Amino acid sequence: MIILGYESSCDETGVALVCTERGLLSHALHSQVKMHQEYGGVVPELASRDHIQRVLPLTAETLAAAGMQLADVDAVAYTAGPGLAGALLVGASVAQSIAWSLGRPAIPVHHLEGHLLSPLLANPTPAFPFVALLVSGGHTQLMRVDGVGRYALLGETLDDAAGEAFDKSAKLMGLGYPGGPALSKLAEQGDPTVYDLPRPMLHSGDLDFSFSGLKTAVLTRMKSFDVNGGAAFETAKANLAAATEAAIVDVLAAKSLKAMKQTGLKRLVVAGGVGANRHLRQHLETEMARRGGEVFFPPLSLCTDNGAMIAFAAAQRVNAGLVDLSTSSHAFTVRP
Ligand code: KG4
Ligand code: ZN
Repeated sequence: MIILGYESSCDETGVALVCTERGLLSHALHSQVKMHQEYGGVVPELASRDHIQRVLPLTAETLAAAGMQLADVDAVAYTAGPGLAGALLVGASVAQSIAWSLGRPAIPVHHLEGHLLSPLLANPTPAFPFVALLVSGGHTQLMRVDGVGRYALLGETLDDAAGEAFDKSAKLMGLGYPGGPALSKLAEQGDPTVYDLPRPMLHSGDLDFSFSGLKTAVLTRMKSFDVNGGAAFETAKANLAAATEAAIVDVLAAKSLKAMKQTGLKRLVVAGGVGANRHLRQHLETEMARRGGEVFFPPLSLCTDNGAMIAFAAAQRVNAGLVDLSTSSHAFTVRP
């Protein structure tokens, strides 16, 4: 079965073709990062309008790359939420319309399930069961995954998401949007030991997270710097970036390892935009190897939002018998 999938929950328009037997066939992506940069964050109305302009050319590109036509498509999947309402509506409307015109079913997909299953697009793929650390701009969760559709929440953030902590700290440091990659880049030039930032809830005994206090600590440090200090100011900022990254990575890693111990599982999967962080990857690879376990990441290009993970999650749900292809067709489902 050939599934055409759409992602439009935030600032990336993603389209992909996945075969339920053969996996990913092709995908195309347009990032709106440059457009939102001058505003320091995503402007929802601009995002929706850009999705409208990009979605059909990207569809043509995806079909051409796989040597296919719309008539070859057996079902159309789309991100139903969570995300920006207007942005979600673009992908959902296009997917529903194409599905309706072809007389094929449309399959709503939860954005986080897309991220959660995206490491299965990598080679080698992790076998079930595994623990998943889901770290995006809007979510930070630890899940036990026993199979497709069989997810148990182990812990989550009580306030800001890890990606949000990166983004907000970066903003306080005057770095561009999106903050995660910018802060991480600056951190490479800094010394993480110069400033001692808090590791919130590190010893809380549970698997929950809290990142809002970190933001305040970064703000306090920034205020103590002399903005006219020239090179000294730049060095201080790089050191603060390194300390911020180290604090976030330490907490994410410690809680993930605690989840491994608690569940007794040996496989850890990291998904979502923050999963692209090099420091987090290296830290978890070392620590999991030391414990005789393994850690899996999606391919770097599929860490942040993309259409491949949505079409792929739909395919996994179809293969697991979780989609009623006869009736799921045209119930319009968007949950911002
Ligand atoms: O999964 P994603 O693309 O979108 C959401 O569903 O939220 O994640 C975006 C988040 C942003 O907060 C971004 O700053 C963060 O992922 N991010 C990173 C890196 N690349 C993206 N954070 C830290 N280091 C990175 N290299
Ligand atoms: Zn996402």
